[in-house]
Amino acid sequence: MLTNTPLSYGVMARGLHWAIALLILSAIGLGLYGESVPRTADTTALLQTIYSAHKTIGVATFFLAVLRVLWTLGQTRPVPLHPERRLETWAAEAVHFALYGAMFVMPLSGWITHAAEQGFAPIWWPFGQDLPFVPKSDTLAHTAGHVHKTAIWVLYTALALHVLGALKHVLIDRDATMARMTTGRAAGREAPPATQGAAAVAALAIWIAVLLFALLGSAGLPAHGTAQDEARATTPAPAAPDAATGNWAVTQGSLSFDVVQMGAKVQGHFGNWTADIHYDEGSGTGHVTVQIDTTSLDLGSVTDQAKGSEFFNVSHFATATFEGDITRKGTGPDHIATGSLTLIGTTAPLTLPFTLDLQGDTAHMTAQVTIDRRDWKMGAAYPDEGTVGFPITVSVDLQARKS
Ligand code: HEM
Ligand code: HEM
Repeated sequence: MLTNTPLSYGVMARGLHWAIALLILSAIGLGLYGESVPRTADTTALLQTIYSAHKTIGVATFFLAVLRVLWTLGQTRPVPLHPERRLETWAAEAVHFALYGAMFVMPLSGWITHAAEQGFAPIWWPFGQDLPFVPKSDTLAHTAGHVHKTAIWVLYTALALHVLGALKHVLIDRDATMARMTTGRAAGREAPPATQGAAAVAALAIWIAVLLFALLGSAGLPAHGTAQDEARATTPAPAAPDAATGNWAVTQGSLSFDVVQMGAKVQGHFGNWTADIHYDEGSGTGHVTVQIDTTSLDLGSVTDQAKGSEFFNVSHFATATFEGDITRKGTGPDHIATGSLTLIGTTAPLTLPFTLDLQGDTAHMTAQVTIDRRDWKMGAAYPDEGTVGFPITVSVDLQARKS
């Protein structure tokens, strides 16, 4: 039968129970496996697969949990098999409520962590990686990650008690508790439904205490204290680009890039860079040198991998340099800078089209160019686009003042 009766669990309750049990156990297995894999450039692809699977399974758990609660609310709750053992029955119910809490706290805390950080290991689905009302924020990602890692202990404890209890019923009591949840056998004696309020309140109190502990604890920790943070940014505070020695001094600006990682677009930026610009408005010509401090790279949770030897190799090549001659196209704001970009020890030609909007002594420059990482031998160990795409779209937006 699809629905519960006072003495049995219906197909739907049992199906949801075992589907969610399987998903939760898989999510735990993958989460623990992910923690145990060392963070190096060689393991990036493996880690992405592990965490993408973990997150996808976790998100699926969330939706099944919503369905389960909605379904359960409309159902009769089968009677306890040993109502006379009041403490045991109460404890079993409290554990059930604690498990219901875990079905929401675990996926939601993980999902908020994921949505708040720059995308590493996307969820395998077409509905986007962000969550409404969840901004990109290292602090939020860190806090939610801390909740995720603290809440898992409630799940471990409740699950251990739950499984031990089930085993006790099979091995010691030899009753039909397990059979009710597996084959749907009916067992027990009909009785007026007992109130479960106290068990629900106990489980709720445990969850509130643990969540408060996790939130307060996370406030006192350094911003990059968790294991996942080993794979995350050590982001220096973004600094305004230095003033130039040329006749135009950059007053503010941003240097960012987009790259496709495991099918999802991620955005990175450099916090420190300098631009030395000489430009003659009369002839529309000039020369520009941009020096980028590659150690100031921020690519969210994959910053360390991006800085590693496979990609920006910042310990050997802390600076990337673009140098080019500026020419105006016609009389409008369109210009090009023709030159070369030196990145991880390789110099390759680069033509940067840009617009320059001059207003008296100030100039607003915007540029976008797509380069191919293979031209700089970047990511040679990733010869296809499965993990990291070939094109990198670089965007520059700066304001400069004539000096
Ligand atoms: C994998 C090992 C598991 C075993 C052997 C197991 C076994 C059982 C059994 C025998 C029952 C029936 C208890 C009764 O009628 O009083 C039950 C109920 C229940 N189980 Fe599990 N379970 C497992 C995993 C899980 C997991 C992972 C969760 C959720 C996180 C969970 C949540 C629940 C809940 C909430 C109930 C109460 C019935 C309901 O509201 O659907 N179980 N389980
Ligand atoms: C059924 C739900 C889930 C369970 C049981 C679960 C469990 C776990 C476990 C056991 C770990 C390892 C923690 C440790 O070793 O301390 C972990 C880590 C992680 N989980 Fe989940 N998870 C779930 C859902 C999700 C979801 C939905 C997401 C994101 C969409 C997610 C994202 C993460 C991330 C990013 C980590 C690494 C955390 C870190 O190292 O700081 N999880 N999870």
